[in-house]
Amino acid sequence: MSLSGKSAIVTGSASGIGREIALTLAADGASITVADRNLEGAEAVARQIIESGGAARAAQVDVTNSGQVDAAVEGAAEAYGSLDILVNVAGFGFNSPIVDMREEDWDLVLGVNLKGQFLCARAAARRMIQQGNGGRIVNIASTAANNARYAGGAYCAAKAGVVQLTKVLALELGEYDITVNAVGPGFTETPATVESSDEYRSNFLAQVPARRSGRTSDIANAVLFLASPASEYVNGQTIYVDGGYSAGKLTVRG
Ligand code: NAI
Repeated sequence: MSLSGKSAIVTGSASGIGREIALTLAADGASITVADRNLEGAEAVARQIIESGGAARAAQVDVTNSGQVDAAVEGAAEAYGSLDILVNVAGFGFNSPIVDMREEDWDLVLGVNLKGQFLCARAAARRMIQQGNGGRIVNIASTAANNARYAGGAYCAAKAGVVQLTKVLALELGEYDITVNAVGPGFTETPATVESSDEYRSNFLAQVPARRSGRTSDIANAVLFLASPASEYVNGQTIYVDGGYSAGKLTVRG
């Protein structure tokens, strides 16, 4: 297993994509800190990992709170002797046309989806630099980073910010053997998307060459690669895992 002996913190891992990433990295040998605002959910995921023979612990953290973030990162390092991998997953979608958008909603969407990744990356990078042993940071972006969508102002801006933050971090941390990459999921079946309207779902899927929505395992497998030694020379990149959605306009044919 390529991640044996590695300690990973995965934010937003009480549910959906983050949960699958935590389970996948654990199955590959990493010791996992399941970090989420939802402690009960995080504890359930940690239990599941332990019952499967892995190592895991839960930590309650709101990624917009720098004190909680710093404590969670230190806690992960102390529990397992080091911190080697951060996966920034905590986030949520939000729809409102700009003319109707409340200032507090804009701040919240940018706070969780973008500032949260900055705070977690800062805390993890400080620890990794101090350890002197390299590291891996993987940020979850979205196809919304590149593909503007109606009523997606705050979310699209936040995810576009994640892509640029990823590149800047790659430039700043490369000399410490820390790589920073992102994975941009397309429409993926999770508790967050289960209630998407049939109209939204079918409009979205009409643009997906693979003709199906994403599975959380599709995303977790890409994260596993970027967290593993196999991706050593990949840095500053965003891999879109979207069944081909972002390759072009499927419904415009010659
Ligand atoms: P989810 O709602 O199933 O899971 C999100 C997790 O993040 C939850 O456990 C929640 O408690 C946690 N969380 C939310 N705010 C937090 C905060 N402030 N501090 C700590 N934890 C917090 O959502 P899903 O679908 O698994 O999404 C995960 C990530 O993937 C998000 O960043 C989302 O933007 C991104 N994504 C999801 C897509 C999808 O179709 N499901 C598509 C593209 C990106």
